[in-house]
Amino acid sequence: MSQAVGKLCFRNKAALAPMVRVGTLPMRLLALDYGADIVYCEELIDIRMVQCKRVLNEVLETVDFVAPDDRVVFRTCQREKDHVVFQMGTADPQRALTVARLVENDVAAIDVNMGCPKEYSTKGGMGAALLSNPDKIEAILSTLVKGVSKPVTCKIRILPSLEDTVNLARRIERTGVAALAVHGRTKEERPQHPVHCDVIQAVAQAVSIPVIANGGSLDHVKSHSDIRSFREATGASSVMLARAAMWNPSVFRSQGALPLERVMEDYIQHAVRYDNHASNTKYCLCQMLRDKVESPLGKQLHAAQTSAEICEVFGMEEFYKETQALLQAKQEALSTDNHHIDRPVMDGDVTTMPVRFDRREYPPQITPKMHLLEWSRREKLEQPVYETAQRALDRGFQSTVTVGEKKYRSTLWEKSKKFAEQSAAIVCLRTLGVPEGRIGDPDSGLVNKRKRDEKGDDESEEEKVMTNGFPNASDSSSRKRHPPITPQEEVKG
Ligand SMILES: Cc1cc2nc3c(=O)[nH]c(=O)nc-3n(C[C@H](O)[C@H](O)[C@H](O)COP(=O)(O)O)c2cc1C
Repeated sequence: MSQAVGKLCFRNKAALAPMVRVGTLPMRLLALDYGADIVYCEELIDIRMVQCKRVLNEVLETVDFVAPDDRVVFRTCQREKDHVVFQMGTADPQRALTVARLVENDVAAIDVNMGCPKEYSTKGGMGAALLSNPDKIEAILSTLVKGVSKPVTCKIRILPSLEDTVNLARRIERTGVAALAVHGRTKEERPQHPVHCDVIQAVAQAVSIPVIANGGSLDHVKSHSDIRSFREATGASSVMLARAAMWNPSVFRSQGALPLERVMEDYIQHAVRYDNHASNTKYCLCQMLRDKVESPLGKQLHAAQTSAEICEVFGMEEFYKETQALLQAKQEALSTDNHHIDRPVMDGDVTTMPVRFDRREYPPQITPKMHLLEWSRREKLEQPVYETAQRALDRGFQSTVTVGEKKYRSTLWEKSKKFAEQSAAIVCLRTLGVPEGRIGDPDSGLVNKRKRDEKGDDESEEEKVMTNGFPNASDSSSRKRHPPITPQEEVKG
């Protein structure tokens, strides 16, 4: 595939640098709001990414890349589609290509991290370890350039010798990459060491692709106008900021930086709106506080454990409640729509539908399985029989239920056998037009009465199901209903 078709241009741009834990969706959106042109995601490791499935999150209006353990590894949305660069950690050209193809339609460019000096990267041959393996660099970048339709870039650190750095940059250019980000420090140098603007400049002069200068946060870039000075000092086409943006992302504002409290509130709005994991939100806010983490605000933030508590610290309780209510209403509307559009499809002799069991849609201690059992009894049919398969790919479960000699199954795989049985029961009930007992459904009288009047064996079996699926089933009646919140990946820095 041709490399040059990508829309993203790397000349005269200000970019949010890739930062583990910091570069998640809320920070990227905030940087864009304030004026950044390009936003890099945190480095995501290819081995983790290849296991992910692409999932459209209709409630949040995001595209989620979800790991088999249900964690969201990468979340993105339409707003950043033409600006976000997906950075990966890799030491394997084919795996890199698989990951790039997985995400390419949802991002503006693909970047490979060749600068991370941390052991967790280098011991797998990734990050800065690649700098001493130019053949591997070439293999990874050429494979990506040939294999994806979006621009491919990479981010390097400088080498101990200027000549070696320039030669490496030229070799990288020959792979067909669209741009090269240069962090002007060697892998041995620490973030507080001065950045080598002269080396970045030499690289910028030696290649004709855009060079993105990086490393200036500490002693060059304090305000928006410094972005331009740093670009001029390095002779680069563009500038990429990490720490300066992490401390105050409004550094991208041409009208001048905003007070930190205002920035933190803006950040929280994105974090809540996009259901960011509370610990990630807290981490990013603490980075903004810097030496003020011991201030009264810092201490309150430190004590907050949930997004609701974080909002409380900033007096944003109303905003939190309103956003949750909106998301919940949207989820309810969607699940009603989905319920109506589900049409049974025959797969051989099995009736199928794409149905997932969501415990929150049913009152405490009521399940579709119970409804199906009661209905079968009433119809004088044999008790429903469930057969469950497990697939190796992600150890997902799929059940087929036989009722009245007919078989029913959901096309979606569930994370437990018990959930898979519930979804099979839902398919059967929906196909037959039998009420399944969801909250808000008209009372069928099938199960509720029985629950009140007697305690049969099948019920205690159902209770077991629920207890296993939900460790807190005992307090489920008091549990709040939330939109489908997938725990977001906690990335170790
Ligand atoms: C918290 C944090 C996380 C980082 N994570 C990444 C990363 O995931 N990928 C990467 O290429 N560099 C990463 N870096 C390095 C930065 O992108 C950048 O190269 C470095 O901080 C120098 O730029 P600065 O002077 O603007 O901070 C990280 C830096 C920080 C402070």
